Amino acid sequence: MPIKRSFPESSSPSPQEAKEAKKPPLSSQSKEAKKPPLSSQSKEAKKSPLSSQSKEAKKSLLSSQSINQEEAKESHEESIRPSSLDEYIGQKSLKEILKIAITAAQNRDESLDHLLLYGPPGLGKTTLALILASQMGVGCKITAAPALERPRDITGLLINLAPGDLLFIDEIHRLNKVTEELLYPAMEDYRLDITIGKGQGARTRSLSLPKFTLVGATTKIGALTSPLRDRFGLIQRLNYYEVDELTLIVKRTAKLFNTPITETGAVEIAVRSRGTPRIANRLFKRVRDYAQVEEISPISEELASKALDILNIDPKGLDQTDRLVLKTIINQFQGGPVGLDAVAAATGEDTKTIEEVYEPYLLQIGYLNRTPRGRVVTLAAYKHLGL
Ligand SMILES: Nc1ncnc2c1ncn2[C@@H]1O[C@H](COP(=O)(O)OP(=O)(O)OP(=O)(O)O)[C@@H](O)[C@H]1O
Ligand SMILES: [Mg+2]
Repeated sequence: MPIKRSFPESSSPSPQEAKEAKKPPLSSQSKEAKKPPLSSQSKEAKKSPLSSQSKEAKKSLLSSQSINQEEAKESHEESIRPSSLDEYIGQKSLKEILKIAITAAQNRDESLDHLLLYGPPGLGKTTLALILASQMGVGCKITAAPALERPRDITGLLINLAPGDLLFIDEIHRLNKVTEELLYPAMEDYRLDITIGKGQGARTRSLSLPKFTLVGATTKIGALTSPLRDRFGLIQRLNYYEVDELTLIVKRTAKLFNTPITETGAVEIAVRSRGTPRIANRLFKRVRDYAQVEEISPISEELASKALDILNIDPKGLDQTDRLVLKTIINQFQGGPVGLDAVAAATGEDTKTIEEVYEPYLLQIGYLNRTPRGRVVTLAAYKHLGL
């Protein structure tokens, strides 16, 4: 699917950066704002017919050896994204809520209420936003908070929205203050307040915006300010997927890649996917590589299990880093309680990665507890690690 995204690698904007964002004279903004980098996206988002997906999947499969790995990863991820709510597996209650909201909005001929999606990475937030836009039959512009550094980045996007469009902001907890404050009236009253000129001659002008839907996604709902959070009409959490749902996802991906797989083979991959579709798809691809090299088809439980063992993914889906985190707390901190920073320093992992990627699943399966004094490894984890 040809949805381009260009997220800079930069970390959250520091207060200094936020200040600097205020510095440039705003006089040129409204003009420049009309040239957003993402203007071609809404068209492209609409151009993603379902039927072309399996073809694309095959194409990228054939050419994957010649293109670099990163590109391959991206194109694979895009080609297996479900493109309708019916194709979107799991998250039943959330889908129900969204279907009602969509039907009601369509009946009233209104745009969908602003929606905030939160939950661990890889559970399908971006996918849902794209589906919502296509179900509503509107354009979709995609960006991420770190790409909205200067005020003109957000004003540019807002000014160019067509009525009903969906604006998707990923990692919305990382918005800087200036951008966030520009969003308040935009979300509430579809109004953009911009300052023109500097010093004494400065004037504020209000531009009215078309009605649009803001979909925000975040892995850290707690990091959102309450004025921003309160402006979303719908706030929904994505939950980890059940094994039977992940099994369906693996089977669907296998079909898109024309790779035969047995039911138990799909289950074997599903149970090791930490409740996460992105991981299920990734593990499936590695198992498929192994099957290809070993010239075995279909993918059976035994084959999947062998391939995943080689990848060091254990039967609970824990990888080396998960086990390293648990073992570090056990060996160096007597099982805890220990602060996150100390765990990060001792394992050499980034604090944010541990907090947002590894920890949520370890908490979910009850291998780790969060206490006021820090993280504590549970008895279940000791058992699992054979300690
Ligand atoms: N319900 C689902 N059914 C089938 N596949 C899914 C589903 N949800 C997600 N996927 C697959 O998982 C992958 C990751 O989903 P997505 O990019 O939407 O996650 P995300 O929540 O936006 O992650 P992040 O927080 O890292 O941005 C997608 O490529 C998609 O194919
Ligand atoms: Mg995403």
